[in-house]
Amino acid sequence: MSRPNSLTEKLSKKDKDFLFHPNTNLIAHHDSGPFILDRGEGIYVYDTDGNKYIEGMAGLWCNALGHGNQELADAAMEQFKKFPYGNLFASKSHEPAIRLAEKLVELSPFDKAKVFFGSSGSDANDTQIKLFWYINNALGKTKRKKFISRVQAYHGVTLATSSLTGLPTTHGNFDLPQNHFSHVMSPHYFMNKHEGESEESFVERLGQDLENHINKQDPETIAAMFAEPLMGAGGVIIPPPNYFETIQPILDKYEIPLIDDEVVCGFGRTGNVWGAETFGMKPISITIAKALSSSYMPISSVIISDDCYDIIAKKSNELGIFGHGYTYSGHPVACAVAIKTLEIYERDNILDHVNKVSPTFTERLKKCDKFDLVGNTRGIGLIGAMEFVSNKDSNLGFEKKGIAGKIFTDHAQDNGLIVRAIGDIIAFCPPLIITDSQINNMFDIVEDSLKKTMDDLTKRGFLK
Ligand SMILES: Cc1ncc(COP(=O)(O)O)c(C=O)c1O
Repeated sequence: MSRPNSLTEKLSKKDKDFLFHPNTNLIAHHDSGPFILDRGEGIYVYDTDGNKYIEGMAGLWCNALGHGNQELADAAMEQFKKFPYGNLFASKSHEPAIRLAEKLVELSPFDKAKVFFGSSGSDANDTQIKLFWYINNALGKTKRKKFISRVQAYHGVTLATSSLTGLPTTHGNFDLPQNHFSHVMSPHYFMNKHEGESEESFVERLGQDLENHINKQDPETIAAMFAEPLMGAGGVIIPPPNYFETIQPILDKYEIPLIDDEVVCGFGRTGNVWGAETFGMKPISITIAKALSSSYMPISSVIISDDCYDIIAKKSNELGIFGHGYTYSGHPVACAVAIKTLEIYERDNILDHVNKVSPTFTERLKKCDKFDLVGNTRGIGLIGAMEFVSNKDSNLGFEKKGIAGKIFTDHAQDNGLIVRAIGDIIAFCPPLIITDSQINNMFDIVEDSLKKTMDDLTKRGFLK
């Protein structure tokens, strides 16, 4: 690693003086300072001192095609020059939004659907909440206000979606979750199983837990359930086999629709276009963002079936307007970049590529099981995680949560790899263009960093 140069030092000072960082320990930040990235090329990023890193998280699970994609830059520039801003309010439209909507409906599992654009996963899920309130009001089901999601779910951080998110950090001190939101058990077999419980029995228990929860809440008051196909930001929690097949009939029995949050899984991350295909979900509506534009521009969408859309349309006619939308709904530059992104996914067979390199990814990840620190590894497609334990026999976590995760990510970063610690779970979500040899490089660094982390934890008395 090169030592900080004067630019890094100058920027660090200004960062601490002026920037308010999201999702950051703000006091610790003032001590340790920022990690300032400067440029990227493919799966690699470089800091302001010229150090090179593998971007093992594709940014925030989003930079699917990696950095420096000239075609995406050109698509943006062309649109910037031609028509940099247009909106979709009051029947105005433009070609990029129309073409992108058509493509997304074609890719969706729905025969007929409509696409509503936003700028982030959070605002799209917020739109979903409003749409299902609107639909239920239009149908006279005025008691159906509540949403169910799961502990460890991540659906965003707007006022409403923070409540859907099932992570304490998005609730604490914000006076959340709000009343209409509740959480059922997460399908995290490794942490939530009872002693000796099989995956099959665990799934049965999850079904029972959901049904009890629905009855406790009163089924007539529930608008919908939100679920990610696999739970990303909660710790890459991959549902056990038959999880969705078990909960879907329960939802159907109580007429509770399933909203599919594909913000992380959509566009190939799990080896299919949709995580819903990988895990057998039957959604009524889908949320997408992130890989939709390979994160080159902020854009998100709700894809909702025409059955739902028609109800909304009829009501909007009675009310005179459908009164929801954003200044940047269908931003033309974002749409143009998304169209190009989807074109590249198809032309370059990104899905085939993911399925070709995924065995290297999952096998190398599985090999990390041999370390005493690693209680569990799990992966599918090009997303995975390893979970640290203080004692492998009991699978007990660390008393001081997050220390092992932080030590590991610091070592990985020193060794040239960026990954994310979610407490003591380490997440991996590299750009979808990563090659076999790059995956091997990435896991060579992981193994070396695991050794160093174990040494540190042993020295500090956290590992016996
Ligand atoms: C599954 C899921 N839904 C929604 C969101 C929120 O997206 P954004 O950060 O773009 O608001 C995220 C963000 O990571 C996510 O992982």
